[in-house]
Amino acid sequence: MLAIILIGGQGTRLRPFTCSRPKPLLPLVNRPFLEYQFEVLKAHGIKDVVLCTSYLPGQFRKVFGDGRRLGMRLSYVHEGRPLGTGGAVRNCAGLVRGPFLVFNGDILSGIDLTAFLKAHRDRRAEASIALTRVKDPTLYGLVETDDDGRVRSFLEKPSWDEIRTNTINAGAYVFEPRVLDLIPEGAVHSLERGLFPRLLELRRRLFGWVSPGYWMDIGTVEKYLQAHLDILGGLLPAPLTPFGGRKKSPAGPRQACGRKVRLGREITWPEDGGTAVVGDGSSVGDFVRFSGRVCVGPGCVIGRGASLEDCVVLEHTRVGEGASLKRCVVGERCRVGANSVVAAGGAVAGGSVLGPHSSL
Ligand code: GDD
Ligand code: MG
Repeated sequence: MLAIILIGGQGTRLRPFTCSRPKPLLPLVNRPFLEYQFEVLKAHGIKDVVLCTSYLPGQFRKVFGDGRRLGMRLSYVHEGRPLGTGGAVRNCAGLVRGPFLVFNGDILSGIDLTAFLKAHRDRRAEASIALTRVKDPTLYGLVETDDDGRVRSFLEKPSWDEIRTNTINAGAYVFEPRVLDLIPEGAVHSLERGLFPRLLELRRRLFGWVSPGYWMDIGTVEKYLQAHLDILGGLLPAPLTPFGGRKKSPAGPRQACGRKVRLGREITWPEDGGTAVVGDGSSVGDFVRFSGRVCVGPGCVIGRGASLEDCVVLEHTRVGEGASLKRCVVGERCRVGANSVVAAGGAVAGGSVLGPHSSL
C-alpha cells in the first residue's frame, strides 16, 4: 500500500520556526516531526511513501534521502507552485496502483491504520476520512456523518454558527484510485473545499471513521509546544515515545540524555510525572533546575543555575547563567543572555540574540 504525505504548506502559523525549516522537519523531542508519521506507517506494514513537496523541498531530501536509513522507501513529487491538497494528490496519480492513504504532514497521532483500512473496505467506500473530536472545530474541517458513518456534510473552517457536531477531519484519508478523476490535472485544487463536497454532490460513497486516542495538529507554536509536553508526559503510544533505542541515563527515570552529554553538579531533575530530555553533545551547568517537561536539543549549552520549566530549546542554543525559561520555545542557534527571562507564550526565532537581563 502506498501512502502520500502532503508537506508543501508554508507553515505560516508556526512562524518564526518555519521561516528556515518546513513544518514537517521541525524537531519534535529531537526527531524530525515526519519520523513520527513514518513510525505509524511502519507499525502497520506500510513502507512506500510519496512526499508531496513545494516549500523548501531540498531540505526533505537532505534529511530523509530515499528513506533507507529509516526503513522506508521514499519518493518525492515536487510542485513548482503549490497545487493545494487536491492538486498535490492528483499529481501522484501515475504512482497509484490501488487504494492508497493520504496524510496531512502535520498530524501527530497513533492512528490505527489497519482498523481504518478495514473500515474503508467493509463499507465499500470510495473515500474514507479519519475523524477526531475537538473542542474548537472552527480551525478544521467539520464532518457530519450518519449513524452508519456515511458523510452527510463536509465544511472546511466553519464559523461558530455553522457548528452542529464536534467531529472534524483528522487529516488522514483512504482513497480508491477512481476518485482522482474528479480532480483536475495540473490545477490548484483543495480536497477539503473541492473533492469532498463534490463527492457528496455526486452521492458517491464517502465515509468517516472516528479514530480514537491522541490527536494533534502541530500547526501553531502553542500546539508545537503542547505536542512536546504530551509526548514527554507519556500521552502517546509506545512507538511514538522518544526513547526508543536510546539508552536512558543511569541518573534516573525522569531524564533521558543523549550521547556525549556533559552534566554539571547538583542539577535538579523534574519531579515525578515530569521528564527532561537533553540532546546529544549538550552540556548542562551546575545547579540547573529542570521542572515539568523539558526538551533541550543537541549541541546546546545550558548555563549554571538556569531554570527551565515546560519548554523546548532547539539545537545549538546557548542559555546563559541564571536565565529562566517557562512554557516557551527557543529556536536553534540562539543566545539567551545571562539572567534573561522568557515567559509563557514566548517564541524566540532561530538565531536570535537576547542580551543579559532581557525579558520576553
Ligand atoms: N504538497 C502540498 N501542496 N501540500 C500542501 C499544500 C500544497 O499546496 N497546501 C497544504 N499542504 C499540506 C500542508 O503542508 C499540511 O501538511 C497539510 O497539507 C494540511 O495543510 P494545513 O495548512 O496544515 O491545513 P489546516 O491544518 O488548516 O487544515 C487541514 O488539516 C486539518 C486537520 O489538522 C484540513 O485538512 C482540515 O480539514 C483538517 O481538519
Ligand atoms: Mg494543519
